[in-house]
Amino acid sequence: MSLPSSIRCQFPALQQEVNGRPLVYLDSAATSQKPQRVIDAVSNFYETSCANVNRGAYELGRRSTNLYEGARTLLQEFIGAEHSEEIIFTKGCTEAINLAANSWSAEYLEYEDVILVSEMEHHANIVPWQMAAERHGARVIPIPVTFDCEIDLDQFESLLREEPVKMVAVKHICNATGTINPIEQIATMAKEAGSAVMIDGAQGLAHQRVSVKDLPIDFYAMASHKAYGPMGIGALYGKREVLRELPPYQGGGDMIRAVSFEDTTYRKPPGRFEAGTQNPADAAGFAEALRFISEVGVEALHQHETEIRIAAEKMLQDAGADIVGSPKEKAGIISFVLPRIHPHDFSTFSDQLGAAIRTGHHCCMPLMSSLGLPGTARVSLAAYNSIEDLNVLIEAIESARRIFA
Ligand SMILES: Cc1ncc(COP(=O)(O)O)c(C=O)c1O
Repeated sequence: MSLPSSIRCQFPALQQEVNGRPLVYLDSAATSQKPQRVIDAVSNFYETSCANVNRGAYELGRRSTNLYEGARTLLQEFIGAEHSEEIIFTKGCTEAINLAANSWSAEYLEYEDVILVSEMEHHANIVPWQMAAERHGARVIPIPVTFDCEIDLDQFESLLREEPVKMVAVKHICNATGTINPIEQIATMAKEAGSAVMIDGAQGLAHQRVSVKDLPIDFYAMASHKAYGPMGIGALYGKREVLRELPPYQGGGDMIRAVSFEDTTYRKPPGRFEAGTQNPADAAGFAEALRFISEVGVEALHQHETEIRIAAEKMLQDAGADIVGSPKEKAGIISFVLPRIHPHDFSTFSDQLGAAIRTGHHCCMPLMSSLGLPGTARVSLAAYNSIEDLNVLIEAIESARRIFA
């Protein structure tokens, strides 16, 4: 394995037993576990720097603002954005997509325009666009997915030719199957057809290096909690010239320049999009998580997860599981089904052995129906996993089979 086993020791939650067995955490695509240094960064904020961002003209206020703006600069550098004002903090990836869908569509979406989203999207990258389309009389059309669980680029090209496409919204990495989408190619095709582009990077941040300034995209949405950071914070990257044209998403304190009953004016981005009390504690934790990832290295993480994924797929197939999808580029996520064993039943067996896996539709109901599946069992990997973690799944398959056979 390419990463040192000592990484696991840095995660306090992984040092416990569950149901009398050592916890084996295989659900990092839902949320990752947090290293001690991230937990410390959050509690350190409350112990030493608890004050509102941008408001208190006193030492604690300055510390809080510095932590918050420092996190913004770190994230800017981490994803290769040109300007820190291109980073808007949100409470997660879902809110980041809602922000883009609301503000962008208020400015640009018109009657009968088309928004393309792929059939493999998470509900968070479908529903906000459906809501925006409903408000403006526009249409959301799905881009079909192949049997291998890849976006069908031929059909995508046809849709771009035949429809008045104003927005293409696709995910970087599929949380259900692990597919790494060719976002540069997709974005280039979309831009050539005159469309805006939004990438849902919820699963991308900790697993694939991005340089957003080099991608022909308008938005990239992120979640801290899937990248070793705290829950309750995420971010939207938006190109500076795009954000400058967009109206605010929410109104309230801090996002304004001046308020009067005659004429209220707004701050420049990113302030315009950050209404109300912000979340500097989790921003500090998010920044610490990015430092952790940078120290380990995104490429090393991907290699580590790929080595385990390939070995795990073989083990699961040898144990009779069918792996769902076989995309050319894949992250450390495996969806599988077991003949005659329902995924929910299987997760009960694995839970009894201390293993946390995810089962169901993974918030990808349209993908599941296009694959003709009610749901799958999903294993998703991170820095702290090892191939030994998979032994417990094979044990669970054997126990389930003894009962269901
Ligand atoms: C691909 C994808 N997009 C969006 C989301 C939503 O992220 P959050 O729940 O952090 O807002 C998820 C969460 O699983 C996801 O996997």
